[in-house]
Amino acid sequence: MVHPLLSFLLLFQTIATATPLRPGFYSETCPQAESIVRDVMYKAMIREPRSVASVMRFQFHDCFVNGCDASLLLDDTPTMLGEKLSLSNIDSLRSYQVVDEVKEALEKACPGTVSCADIIIMASRDAVALSGGPNWEVKLGRKDSLTASQADSDNIMPSPRANASYLIELFDKFNLSVKDLVALSGSHSIGQGRCFSIMFRLYNQSGTGRPDPTLEPKFREKLDKLCPLGGDENVTGDLDATPHLFDNQYFKDLVAGRGFLNSDQTLFTFQQTREYVRLFSRDQSEFFKAFVEGMIKMGDLQSGRPGEVRNNCRVVNHRPIDILLESIA
Ligand code: HEM
Ligand SMILES: *[C@@H]1O[C@H](CO)[C@@H](O)[C@H](O)[C@H]1NC(C)=O
Ligand SMILES: *[C@@H]1O[C@H](CO)[C@@H](O)[C@H](O)[C@H]1NC(C)=O
Ligand SMILES: *[C@@H]1O[C@H](CO)[C@@H](O)[C@H](O)[C@H]1NC(C)=O
Ligand SMILES: *[C@@H]1O[C@H](CO)[C@@H](O)[C@H](O)[C@H]1NC(C)=O
Repeated sequence: MVHPLLSFLLLFQTIATATPLRPGFYSETCPQAESIVRDVMYKAMIREPRSVASVMRFQFHDCFVNGCDASLLLDDTPTMLGEKLSLSNIDSLRSYQVVDEVKEALEKACPGTVSCADIIIMASRDAVALSGGPNWEVKLGRKDSLTASQADSDNIMPSPRANASYLIELFDKFNLSVKDLVALSGSHSIGQGRCFSIMFRLYNQSGTGRPDPTLEPKFREKLDKLCPLGGDENVTGDLDATPHLFDNQYFKDLVAGRGFLNSDQTLFTFQQTREYVRLFSRDQSEFFKAFVEGMIKMGDLQSGRPGEVRNNCRVVNHRPIDILLESIA
């Protein structure tokens, strides 16, 4: 006779096991799912071109913190500090309402079927494809988390000050290679960043009281004008010279010393990453191939914790205990 508490725990274990992801997961239950997501993303892009970049960034900030489980999208509750206000996300992540629009359209077509975690994965792919980048088949079938962790986000997500050796180690913890790191950083081919993220680089790199010496002088002048000392640090600048086009311009900019973030430029400064930057700057199809591989690997990260399909991406339907009780009933 198994002790009741033990069988309780065993059950938890079975439902917590990571589900296998596969293409076409919704082909029976919601065959229109992928075209609905693409359609809402297209309309968002027409309305505000930057919004698709902002949505694409969600995949990184979701998947690195306890797996791709839409924990990122949960609002704070009286008992839970969510990830929206973490160091890297506060005043920075944006366009949450685009995900809400996608969810609303999907709930209309197929209620309670498509997870918010899968929406982030589909929408990120669509952001790239709609911006002129590669298109690819995504694996689906993720569940949405029942909790979020601000502390985990604070601890994990890298600062724009990070150097390449730090980033190599961080990505390695997620089984992402040096090539994956450089290719995935190429996501900064679209979108913008705030002056807040580069002030130290412009005026006090590594506490020297001087700017980052790897900044190309003309580019530095331009950034100094955009982000003067004492100015509004919420002002934004383009992450590369073609911020609405997903292309390899980002890597050409790095070779020319025109990277926006320190974490970008360091990929060319450090020897371990430099050759990949050069390769991608010369060969866009190599970049696209490596980027797709990286996005698929990053999309495979799972927490193994129990989950559900949320009705609303910002709030959970059930508490963890409800899920346990339901699974026993
Ligand atoms: C390698 C480490 C990375 C660091 C340190 C980093 C850091 C940043 C920072 C600081 C910003 C600007 C935020 C602001 O100033 O408010 C940004 C923007 C962005 N990041 Fe990253 N990032 C990294 C990797 C990635 C990855 C892997 C992706 C996606 C695959 C990604 C996608 C984006 C996008 C699309 C934007 C522009 C968002 C917008 O315009 O709203 N980043 N990133
Ligand atoms: C890179 O950053 C890490 C962590 O911030 C630091 O300890 C290390 O000294 C830096 N490496 C180089 C070569 O600057
Ligand atoms: C990385 O790969 C190892 C070996 O396959 C595996 O045990 C580990 O769980 C993986 N880590 C992550 C974060 O996926
Ligand atoms: C530059 O950074 C160093 C170290 O963080 C700090 O001690 C110094 O006060 C800063 N200088 C300025 C002008 O902000
Ligand atoms: C940016 O704007 C937000 C409000 O939208 C404000 O709370 C924050 O302090 C500003 N941040 C900077 C760095 O100026």
